[in-house]
Amino acid sequence: MSRLDDRVAIVTGASRGVGATIARTLVAAGAKVVLADILVEEGEKVSAEIGEAATFAALDVTSEEDWSRVVSETLAEHGQIDVLVNNAAILHLGTLENTPPEIFRRVLEVNAVGPYLGTRAVLASMKAQNSGSIVHVASIDGLVGMNGVSAYATSKFGLRGLAKSSSLELGRSGIRVNAVCPAGGNTDMYGPWFEKLAAITDQTQAYNENRGIPGTVAYEAIANAVLYLASDASAGVTGIDLPVDGGATAGKFILGFNSM
Ligand SMILES: NC(=O)c1ccc[n+]([C@@H]2O[C@H](COP(=O)([O-])OP(=O)(O)OC[C@H]3O[C@@H](n4cnc5c(N)ncnc54)[C@H](O)[C@@H]3O)[C@@H](O)[C@H]2O)c1
Repeated sequence: MSRLDDRVAIVTGASRGVGATIARTLVAAGAKVVLADILVEEGEKVSAEIGEAATFAALDVTSEEDWSRVVSETLAEHGQIDVLVNNAAILHLGTLENTPPEIFRRVLEVNAVGPYLGTRAVLASMKAQNSGSIVHVASIDGLVGMNGVSAYATSKFGLRGLAKSSSLELGRSGIRVNAVCPAGGNTDMYGPWFEKLAAITDQTQAYNENRGIPGTVAYEAIANAVLYLASDASAGVTGIDLPVDGGATAGKFILGFNSM
């Protein structure tokens, strides 16, 4: 059973969407959770809704200073950090030609450098207690390529590399590192492209339907996968990519072939 009683977790990007659901799920499993995000008002509201086991900390994942402050404050308050969920990320939808270098770099900075900084920031305390679980929220776009998401896919493939390499470095210190690879999440992430996406709804629907379990995956399913990897239920599991994608990356799907 996935329980986190007496455990302390930091969840980044927890002010909304999948991250907020991960924070709720970890608290429901017994953890104390620090919700960390750049969206302060939203994060404080979610934290207050969750209750006493949750607190909010302003954090820009690309800032070493912010990480240092949030980790120090968490240790001062709770004395330990058992779980780090690197969930914060940004998306850029655009072909290579429509992805200027500064945007490509920014996507890597938030989605890959951010989790690297977070991992480094919690290492000393996790090593001192000889235990810890770090879960990166990657994406199916980190498992297979897709046109129009080069910057995002590069960041998410990179994040899986970070998980695998660091899992090998840290296993002997009692620290496990894994990645969850969801299909779908908060549509707020697509905000800047809503209009363009609305014009190709039939194509995006077909993309979501042509998989083993059609449709997008519920936030709770993603959060439960994170909980599993965060908890002792997954003891012995390290360096893996756990797709939570309704089979989207299992292979190619042709609906008519199911009735042959
Ligand atoms: N939305 C999707 O369709 C989808 C699909 C697959 C994977 N994912 C992944 O799921 C995770 C959660 O995304 P979501 O769907 O909830 O989207 P979201 O945009 O609602 O959530 C991302 C959160 O990260 C925060 N954030 C962004 N930059 C930050 C920074 N520099 N420092 C701290 N916080 C920052 C945002 O404020 C936001 O609260 C992400 O890792 C995303 O890549 C999402």
